[in-house]
Amino acid sequence: MRADAGLHGRARELEVLDRLLLELRDGRSRALVLRGESGVGKTTLLAHLAERAGRAGRVVRTAGVETGSEIAYSNLHELCAPLMHRFGRLTPAQQEALGTALGMGDGSAGHLLVGLAVLDLFAEAAVEEPLVCVVDDVQWLDGMSAAILAFVARRLDAEAVALVFAVNTTASALAPANDRLLAGLPELRVEGLADEPARKLLASVLAGPVDPGVLDRIVAESRGNPLALLELHRDHR
Ligand SMILES: Nc1ncnc2c1ncn2[C@@H]1O[C@H](COP(=O)(O)OP(=O)(O)OP(=O)(O)O)[C@@H](O)[C@H]1O
Ligand SMILES: [Mg+2]
Repeated sequence: MRADAGLHGRARELEVLDRLLLELRDGRSRALVLRGESGVGKTTLLAHLAERAGRAGRVVRTAGVETGSEIAYSNLHELCAPLMHRFGRLTPAQQEALGTALGMGDGSAGHLLVGLAVLDLFAEAAVEEPLVCVVDDVQWLDGMSAAILAFVARRLDAEAVALVFAVNTTASALAPANDRLLAGLPELRVEGLADEPARKLLASVLAGPVDPGVLDRIVAESRGNPLALLELHRDHR
């Protein structure tokens, strides 16, 4: 099944993501930060992006976990692991720094060198095919991974690399450090669905006829937030 099957609304957001992929295919690099409240549909949009990107390039992904370990570089490790066949293309100093950061050596891992090594590793991978790095739930990444990925996002140029982040603004209000690292990067605000797609989403999960007043109330109360809408629908059954 396509990742965007059953996706309601989101024409504006999908256009932004599709444009990013077109630019990537032209050899340009892009960083983008999706921001929105819990349940508004960021992960769903990232899944759409990954599905589209996977048809014409490579996709690597990682996500912060709320109860996750704070082990330094663990998210970076997840992102880089599928690209390590290009590790040998890095300079010896970069290999030592990145290898040490990722637990493959015991040299020194200066942050700048690790950042430059990741940038070059992404660029090397993108020589084969455009590379899309998808980083979900940034607010819960381990801090070192967040810092390095923010560094890389700011230095992307013409490598055919896209670095696309999603930040849960509800959760990042409590843990704002990683979100702050991404300040100033191009942003896509993900808001609630408009009235019509919200109603279509609701209609798609209704098992039978429901009082129109109840439907109106669910749509209004959810403010177009798909997760809230689905939960309110469940509660009203
Ligand atoms: N445009 C959409 N059309 C239909 N369903 C959607 C849409 N967007 C999101 N959903 C559904 O709403 C729920 C929440 O979406 P999603 O997990 O993408 O939100 P999120 O922004 O990533 O939330 P969180 O910040 O809590 O991770 C999921 O069940 C998803 O399938
Ligand atoms: Mg999510």
